[in-house]
Amino acid sequence: METGRQVMGKIVRETKDRFIRENLLSDQFIDFVSGNMLPFDTLLAYYRCAMMEIETKFKVLNEQFSLRYDRNPIETIKTRIKSMNSIMKKIRRKDIPLDIDSIEKNIWDIAGVRVVCSFSEDIYLLAQCLLEQDDITLIERKDYIKNPKPSGYRSLHLIVEVPIFLQNEKRAMKVEVQFRTIAMDFWASLEHKIRYKKNIPESDMELLAAELLDCADISAELDSRMENIRKRIEASKEVESIVK
Ligand code: GTP
Ligand code: MG
Repeated sequence: METGRQVMGKIVRETKDRFIRENLLSDQFIDFVSGNMLPFDTLLAYYRCAMMEIETKFKVLNEQFSLRYDRNPIETIKTRIKSMNSIMKKIRRKDIPLDIDSIEKNIWDIAGVRVVCSFSEDIYLLAQCLLEQDDITLIERKDYIKNPKPSGYRSLHLIVEVPIFLQNEKRAMKVEVQFRTIAMDFWASLEHKIRYKKNIPESDMELLAAELLDCADISAELDSRMENIRKRIEASKEVESIVK
């Protein structure tokens, strides 16, 4: 005689098994994975190359700035390739056809570069420097610094195309570049952690969202005050050099 607990366990196992069979192991999915493993790996390798190109461009700009202005506008550069899991979730969410060409055409953030700057002025300067380079094409620009998201999220997002040079061809690849100040990055990391935390009751979530929005305003205010301090220091340095 099975206990209630055993029966429940059996039902959960069977449901899980059915879900895997019906969703993850659908014929379409199996065909895609087995028929496209090599082209898919190749595509990811191209994205890695494009990401390296963009990262190098920022490292060069940082180097040049430090020679010219004696300061580094970039605090950190982080890069990441979207995981297979996230790519699959996006295919499902956006209802994209399951083939390599459509993935490349429709998913623009497989290669991601996050540039964390000291000041928001540096963000616009670096974005402009990147876009003025003659091998870069701007595909999309979203300015969540001038127009923050309802969550309070601030960042400048660019989707750009950069060529990579292979043995016999030149290929334009899309890369998403997110520019943030340290304060914007600090806020976004915390908000991301909280948003994906399970077990938070709905009512607490609402309060936390309001609190986070408030923190976003404080962080924007902090950015603008720090920027003003920098401007004042630079202005006094200029006066000093004229007097000398
Ligand atoms: P996609 O089709 O997925 O690109 O959606 P979208 O174009 O509406 O989003 P967008 O490109 O504007 O932003 C995508 C990325 O920005 C996310 O992957 C996050 O890294 C970041 N992001 C956007 N909104 C938020 C937010 O409210 N909080 C945090 N922490 N990150 C965000
Ligand atoms: Mg996007």
